[in-house]
Amino acid sequence: MLPEDIQRRVEESKRVCVFTGAGVSAESGIPTFRSAGGLWEKYRPEDLATLDAFARDPVMVWQWYAWRQELVCSAQPNAAHKAIAAMDRTYPEFLLVTQNVDDLHERAGVKRMVKLHGSIMEMRCLDAGHVIALKEPLDKDAIAKESLPKCPTCDSVCRPNVVWFGEMLPPEPIYAGREFAAACDMLLIVGTSGVVGGGYGLAELAKLAGALVVEVNPEESALSHLAEVSVRHPAADALPKIFHR
Ligand code: OAD
Repeated sequence: MLPEDIQRRVEESKRVCVFTGAGVSAESGIPTFRSAGGLWEKYRPEDLATLDAFARDPVMVWQWYAWRQELVCSAQPNAAHKAIAAMDRTYPEFLLVTQNVDDLHERAGVKRMVKLHGSIMEMRCLDAGHVIALKEPLDKDAIAKESLPKCPTCDSVCRPNVVWFGEMLPPEPIYAGREFAAACDMLLIVGTSGVVGGGYGLAELAKLAGALVVEVNPEESALSHLAEVSVRHPAADALPKIFHR
C-alpha cells in the first residue's frame, strides 16, 4: 500500500504520533461531519454546537447529543482503531492525538492518548465545571426544560463536555500533542478534513522536525499538502496494511 522506502520508515520509526478525526470511526457507523452524508449536511453547527445554541435551546442540543451518545455506545472499534492500539503497544514512544469525542480508541485499547475536543460520554456542570462521566447514553425522551441533566454535586445544569465552535481548545492536550509532534519520526494523519484547529500545528511541527508525514483519507484534505504520501483508502482497510506487526 505504501512505497517500499516509506513502508521501511514506518517500520523503523521510534517516536510515532497519530492524529485522528471523524473518518477513523466512519466504518464503525459513526457519521463524520463534513464528508458526503456527514452531520453538517443535515444539521447546522450554529444550532447544535455552540454555547449560544445551548443557551437558546438546551433541550434540542441535549437531545442531539443523547442521540449521538446512543450511536457511539452501540458502535464497536474497527480495524483502524485496533491497528492504532497495536501501534501504541509496539512503538517505544507513541502519542495519539484525537479530535474525536467518541470512546472507540479507548475501547480498542489505546493508552497513550490526548483528546482535543472532549468526550461525548461526559457532561460538565455550568456553575462549577464538575465533570461527570456517563456510563450509558442519556435518555433522549426524558430530556425536557424542567429536567435537564444536573450535576450530582452542586445540582447546576450540565452541558456536554465537548468543545463547541467559538470555544478554546483545552491547552493541556494541545501542548502535549505539539510537544510530542515537534520531535517525532512519523506523523500518521487519519480521517480528518483538517479544517478545524489543532491539526495544522501538529502537521507543520512534525514536518519541521523532518518526520515522515503519512495521511490516510479517501479524499483530499486541508493537510494533504503536508503529507509525503496520501493513502486514498478508508482507514479500516488501509491501517492494518500499513501497520501489521
Ligand atoms: P470531518 O467530518 O471534518 O472530516 C472527516 C474526514 O474523514 C474527511 O476528510 C473524510 O474524507 C474522511 N473520511 C471519511 N470516511 C473515511 C474513512 N473510512 N477512512 C478515513 N477517512 C475517512 O471531521 P474532523 O476533521 O474530525 O466539531 O472534524 C473535527 C470537528 O469538526 C468535530 O470535532 C466537530 C466538527 O465540526 C464540533 O462539533 C465543534
